[in-house]
Amino acid sequence: MSTFNVELKKVVDDSYEIETGFDLQDKFVEDLKGGLLGKLHRFAVVTDSIVDGLYAQSICDKLVEAGFDITKIVIPEGEKSKTRQMKEYVEDTMLAAGLRRDCAVLAIGGGVVTDLAGFVAGTYGRGVPFVNYATTLLAAADASIGGKTAVDTPLATNLIGMFNQPKKVYIDIATWKTLPARQMSSGMAETIKHGCLGDAELFEFLEKNMDRVLNCEPEACTYITERNCGVKYKVVMKDERESGLREVLNLGHTVGRAIETLSDYRLLHGEAVSIGLIAAARLSEDMGYMSASDVDRLIAVLKSARLPVEIPEYIDRQKLVAKLYTDKKVRDGKLRFVLQKGIGDVVQFGDNVYATQISEDKAREIIMKL
Ligand code: GLY
Repeated sequence: MSTFNVELKKVVDDSYEIETGFDLQDKFVEDLKGGLLGKLHRFAVVTDSIVDGLYAQSICDKLVEAGFDITKIVIPEGEKSKTRQMKEYVEDTMLAAGLRRDCAVLAIGGGVVTDLAGFVAGTYGRGVPFVNYATTLLAAADASIGGKTAVDTPLATNLIGMFNQPKKVYIDIATWKTLPARQMSSGMAETIKHGCLGDAELFEFLEKNMDRVLNCEPEACTYITERNCGVKYKVVMKDERESGLREVLNLGHTVGRAIETLSDYRLLHGEAVSIGLIAAARLSEDMGYMSASDVDRLIAVLKSARLPVEIPEYIDRQKLVAKLYTDKKVRDGKLRFVLQKGIGDVVQFGDNVYATQISEDKAREIIMKL
C-alpha cells in the first residue's frame, strides 16, 4: 500500500475594487479596454429583459465598437430566473457561441443577474473571470459584493452555489431612477439591515431621509451606497466563507428567505427580508437584547420604506415554521438565528459565534404574532 501526500497549500489574492458613481458605462468600457480582464476579448454579457433595453444593449454596442467579441444573453426579469435550468441555458448559449476558457462573464443587472452570472462564471470551463455592473439598489447594497453566487431550487433560495469573487464591481447609482418603486423598497430592506446590524448612523440617516433616498436624490443615494459597502465589505474581508462573522449578514433572512420561497416569489427578496427583520427583532426583544422602542423604530423605518411588516394572509404559518429548516444556518437539525443588540449591533454568542439556537416553539410563537 502506498500513500501520497498532495500538497496544495495556497495563497490567493481575490482582492477587487468596488467603484461607485453615476453613469459608469463609459468607465466600465474604458477599464476593459485598459486591461481590467487582461488580454481577454470575448465576453458573455448576462442581463435581464428589463435591464437589456435600459443599459446592457448600449454597453454591448460600446464594447463591440471597442473591438470586443460579445455574446449577449438575456434572461427573463425576476427571481424565477435564478434556477439551475437558467444556468444551463446561459452555459449552453455560451458553448454554442464557441466561448471556451478564453472568455469572461459580464453581469449587468440586479441581484438575480449577478448571482446567476457569477455562478456560471465559477463553473464554466472550471472557472472564468467575471465583473458585476450593478443596476439596482439590492445589488448595490448586497448581491453584487461579497462573492456569494447561487441559484434557487424549489425547496429554498440560494441552496446551490459557490463563493466566487468578481474582478471588479461597478455600482451605477444613476440606474436607480429607472427602478420600479417596489424594487427600490426591496433594496432598502438590505440597507436597513446593514443599519440594524452594524451602522447606527446609517439607521438614523434612514429614519430622517427615507423619502430623499426613495426619490433618488444623488447625495442621499451616494451616502447609503458608501455606508452599505462599508458594512458589507468589512464583514466579508474578515470572513469571506461564512465561518462565523459573515452570518451577521443573515440578520432577518432566517424567516425572510422562508417567506420568500413560500410566497412563490410574489414577495420580492427585500419585502420578505423586511418581515424577517421584524421576526429577528421580536426574538431579540424577547431575549432581552433589544428594547420595545427600538423594535418600534425598526418597524417605523421599514414602513417608511413602503415595505411589508406583516406575514401575508396567503402564507401558511405552520408551513413557514417547517420551511425555516431549509436555512443554511441550521446545525444538527436545530434552528439558529442572528439577533440584534439594540440598533447598530448584533449579539455575539461566543468566539466567532454570531447565531444562536432557537427552539421551534419559540420561532413559532414569534411567527404566530407577526
Ligand atoms: N447576503 C448575505 C451575505 O452576503 O453574506
